[in-house]
Amino acid sequence: MRRVFVAPCLALLSVLLGSDALQVIGGSVTVVQGDTAVLPCKLTDTTEDLTQITWQRRMREKPSNDNFITVRPNEEPRFVNGRDDRFKYIGNFNDKNGTLQLSNVALKDEGSYTCIFTLFPSGTQKTEIPLKVFVPPITSIKDNLPTLGKEEVLFATCTAAGSKPPAEVRWLTGTFADKVRMTTNSTQYDNGTTTTVSSLFGVPTREINGRQVRCDISGDSLTKEISLPFTIQVYFSPTEVNIRQISEDTFECVAAANPEAKYNWNRSGQSLPQPGVKVEGAKLQLLSLTSDLNGLYQCEASNTYGSKHSQLYVHVASGTCSAAWTLFGLLFFLNVIGAAVWCYYKSGYSQKRRRLVLKDSKNGTNGEAEMLAAKTSQLADVESKNGQYSTCTEGTTSVSLQTG
Ligand SMILES: *[C@@H]1O[C@H](CO)[C@@H](O)[C@H](O)[C@H]1NC(C)=O
Ligand SMILES: *[C@@H]1O[C@H](CO)[C@@H](O)[C@H](O)[C@H]1NC(C)=O
Ligand SMILES: *[C@@H]1O[C@H](CO)[C@@H](O)[C@H](O)[C@H]1NC(C)=O
Ligand SMILES: *[C@@H]1O[C@H](CO)[C@@H](O)[C@H](O)[C@H]1NC(C)=O
Repeated sequence: MRRVFVAPCLALLSVLLGSDALQVIGGSVTVVQGDTAVLPCKLTDTTEDLTQITWQRRMREKPSNDNFITVRPNEEPRFVNGRDDRFKYIGNFNDKNGTLQLSNVALKDEGSYTCIFTLFPSGTQKTEIPLKVFVPPITSIKDNLPTLGKEEVLFATCTAAGSKPPAEVRWLTGTFADKVRMTTNSTQYDNGTTTTVSSLFGVPTREINGRQVRCDISGDSLTKEISLPFTIQVYFSPTEVNIRQISEDTFECVAAANPEAKYNWNRSGQSLPQPGVKVEGAKLQLLSLTSDLNGLYQCEASNTYGSKHSQLYVHVASGTCSAAWTLFGLLFFLNVIGAAVWCYYKSGYSQKRRRLVLKDSKNGTNGEAEMLAAKTSQLADVESKNGQYSTCTEGTTSVSLQTG
């Protein structure tokens, strides 16, 4: 991940003194923040006596060239303006090698380092080594949490913060590039780092919800491209709530929503479970098919964006098998007609009730729902007195169940 660059072209400083061709070999160094830099420095082609090696530096925060380390023969290197243990003399005095190592490089270390050899009798020879520090960006994606709508909105931003040199940030949207729009802008700070932000816009529709995109970040401060996956989420409150029968005695409440809806069942305004009824998330199970369970059940689907409810009218027909066959036979024909009429009546009634319920949910009052519950139980009473045997399932809002 981390890299150290040593520029291939070594700075050569050549000074002619008498017949000696003195040279101080240095270089320029680029290092990634946090890494270790080696500042090379070596004096060649001299037979003169070396008495001291001195290092000076100049940085953004301290623009004057000041000594910071001196090295003398048979002595520990000495810090001049305060100790900094990140520096280590790794050269060899007898070899006239002044190489210095700097570990855990910080951005503020960027600057120019000067290596000075003090010779006897000729004086000093030096070279300057520029140190460049690269800073990899801190990358992130921020979801703007768009909700369903018809106008273009910001979906998300992808940020490469504090990169040096600036990073390149771009969204890869694949097959639906025509449905989105991108903008990129950047801010440069005094310390030389740059924050680049790329924004992704589009119309927050149900179709675009769940689409996979990617944000790619690249640049010289990164050894390899960073790829951040992102799933476009369009948030919406539960839309049409449906109750479906999944087995003879079990019902399930279903609603599209993002994030997924949580379900809550109750019966005529009283919370569930109650004896004979089992509730498990979206599912409602009637444990015993007895007329005790008759009534109006409500399922509410909700998430952080809103809620919606739907109703289920349950009627367990309380017919008894002890009814005389003759009576049954006599009534059979009438029953068939009665069932048909009842179904017809009830489906019309249910539709009306559904409309009322919708109105009720808008008004946010319970009054009408309670009135309806009363009406429907009246209906159930009438029906059970008639000994109705037929099963009449109507849409998803009303079900009439037959006992064994
Ligand atoms: C100077 O010392 C450093 C560190 O020990 C070494 O890597 C480098 O090769 C030496 N330079 C020369 C020119 O010998
Ligand atoms: C991007 O540009 C907008 C408007 O041009 C500006 O308000 C915002 O601060 C910029 N963001 C960055 C990170 O530069
Ligand atoms: C550079 O400056 C910015 C803005 O002041 C700051 O957020 C960031 O941390 C700095 N970066 C470094 C590496 O010091
Ligand atoms: C029952 O559900 C309805 C519809 O979701 C809701 O308006 C009512 O407050 C609930 N009652 C109780 C007691 O939970």
